[in-house]
Amino acid sequence: MDRLPTYQTPSDGRLSAEMLADYDEHGVLVLEGFVDPRECTRLKERVAELVEAFDPGEVGHIFSATEQTQLGDAYFEESGDKVRFFFEHDAFDDRGRLRQPKLDSLNKMGHAMHDLDSVFDSFSRTPALAQVAADIGIAEPGIIQSMVIFKPPRIGGEVQCHQDSTYIFTEPLSCIGFWFALEDASLENGCMQFIPGAHKFGLKKRQRRGEDDKLRLETIDSTPWPGTPVPAEAKIGTLVIFDGCTPHLSGPNFSSRSRCAYTLHAIDRRCQYPADNWLQRSAELPLRGFTS
Ligand code: FE2
Repeated sequence: MDRLPTYQTPSDGRLSAEMLADYDEHGVLVLEGFVDPRECTRLKERVAELVEAFDPGEVGHIFSATEQTQLGDAYFEESGDKVRFFFEHDAFDDRGRLRQPKLDSLNKMGHAMHDLDSVFDSFSRTPALAQVAADIGIAEPGIIQSMVIFKPPRIGGEVQCHQDSTYIFTEPLSCIGFWFALEDASLENGCMQFIPGAHKFGLKKRQRRGEDDKLRLETIDSTPWPGTPVPAEAKIGTLVIFDGCTPHLSGPNFSSRSRCAYTLHAIDRRCQYPADNWLQRSAELPLRGFTS
């Protein structure tokens, strides 16, 4: 397969039987034109405002894009119900100063903008998105996290192949990813890449908090990923939906163009969400779905 299943977003917002069959078969579905580019621009403007207001202080928190989580870092581990900012590995020079403007230095922000910020809330909760979530079969969706992935020019780091259910584990598995292109994404600026169909081989690793309170990755299945990654080059406004078991990765961004994206992860609230998952939310921030 050299192209992921890709469709124009249907005008009635309903996923066709063909789209749903493709999603089941490949574990990923690309919907072009899902979001009006003006809405993407509005969200990016809000991101820029929040970044401008963020004071990194003396020590910037760097996100390990290869490991997906910053193990042992309370600033990261307590961010599940907050809005926090994480720098790229190469953001600072050897004297600790940012090499590029703050907005071009961040790896990501997360993980509860959708519940804490009104602009993010209205981008994340639309009738169209609620319909897609219903069509792919999430009976009682709860948006467990939101992230802005900056993939900034020149220093945007590589993300190694992984499955999101490793980090957002439920019993039974129910994590679904919703990836929105806030800017055009190509191989040159580090677009997403998926291994279609590999979700059928199950979850290979699970991260959990041990009795010593440390997060660790446990290997469930050490066999190699079946298949090869297929790029998801995407224009602004494209939505990519993918199963929490679909392996994916993205290359570094050495180009002069950023590749900013917004992601939501939903789980089915009927499933059990373990207390040893890294992401825990305060009871004051109950899990909500896609309807406002
Ligand atoms: Fe991921």
